[in-house]
Amino acid sequence: MTTILFLVGSLRKDSLNGRLARVAARELPPGYDATFFDLGTLPFYSGDLEGEDTPAMVGAFREALRRADGVFITTPEYNYALPGIVKNALDWASRPMLPRNAIVGRPMNAAVATISGTNGIRSLSDLKRIWANCGGVTVNAFDFVLQNAPAKFIDDHGVETLEPVSLATLRFALANLRRLIEHETGRVSEANWDAFAEQLR
Ligand SMILES: Cc1cc2nc3c(=O)[nH]c(=O)nc-3n(C[C@H](O)[C@H](O)[C@H](O)COP(=O)(O)O)c2cc1C
Repeated sequence: MTTILFLVGSLRKDSLNGRLARVAARELPPGYDATFFDLGTLPFYSGDLEGEDTPAMVGAFREALRRADGVFITTPEYNYALPGIVKNALDWASRPMLPRNAIVGRPMNAAVATISGTNGIRSLSDLKRIWANCGGVTVNAFDFVLQNAPAKFIDDHGVETLEPVSLATLRFALANLRRLIEHETGRVSEANWDAFAEQLR
C-alpha cells in the first residue's frame, strides 16, 4: 500500500481546506491509502523542546512524515503568505537536520482553497519553496488554487465533491504527486542530502 499523508493548514471546523483534503483523499486510486495528521496538535517550535524533551506529538508528526510515501497539503493563504501553523509544522519537521530531517526525499504536492477570486498562489509558492529547501521534492507544475472555493463544492448523492473542472484539476494534482512517488524522484534528493551530511563530518 502506498500512503499519502494529508495535512490541512487551517484549524477551523468548517475549513474549506479541510473539506478539500477530504475530497482529495476519496480520489486516491486502489493501492493508495490516506492518513491525516492534525497540525493543531503541535506546540510552537522551540529549540528547548528538542532532544529528550521533544513533545510526543512532534515525534508522532515526524514519524507520520517518515512513514508516508508522499504528502498532500491543503492550506489557506493568510496575508499573502503561508499560515503560521503550516510554517510551525515545517520548522518541527525540518529538525534535526542530520542525518536526515523528516522532509528529505519526501514528495509533496499542495493546493490552496480560498474565498478570494484573485489570491492564494503566494501561499502555495511559499510552501513549495520551503519544502524544497528542506530537502523535499515538489510538483513544480502545475499549481492548484481553488479560488471562490465556497462555490466549487457540490453534493454527489450525499458525498461532497467538486464541480467538474475543479475536480479534474484536483485529480491532475494528485496524479502528478503519484508520478513523483512512483518514479522514486526523492532518491536523488536523499543522495544529495547524504552527500551534504558527509561533508559536515
Ligand atoms: C488572517 C487572514 C488572512 C487572510 N488573508 C488572505 C490572503 O492573503 N489571501 C487569500 O486568498 N485569502 C485570505 N484570507 C481568506 C481565506 O481565504 C479564507 O478565510 C479561507 O476560508 C480560509 O481557509 P479555511 O476555510 O480553510 O479556513 C485570509 C483570512 C484570514 C483569517
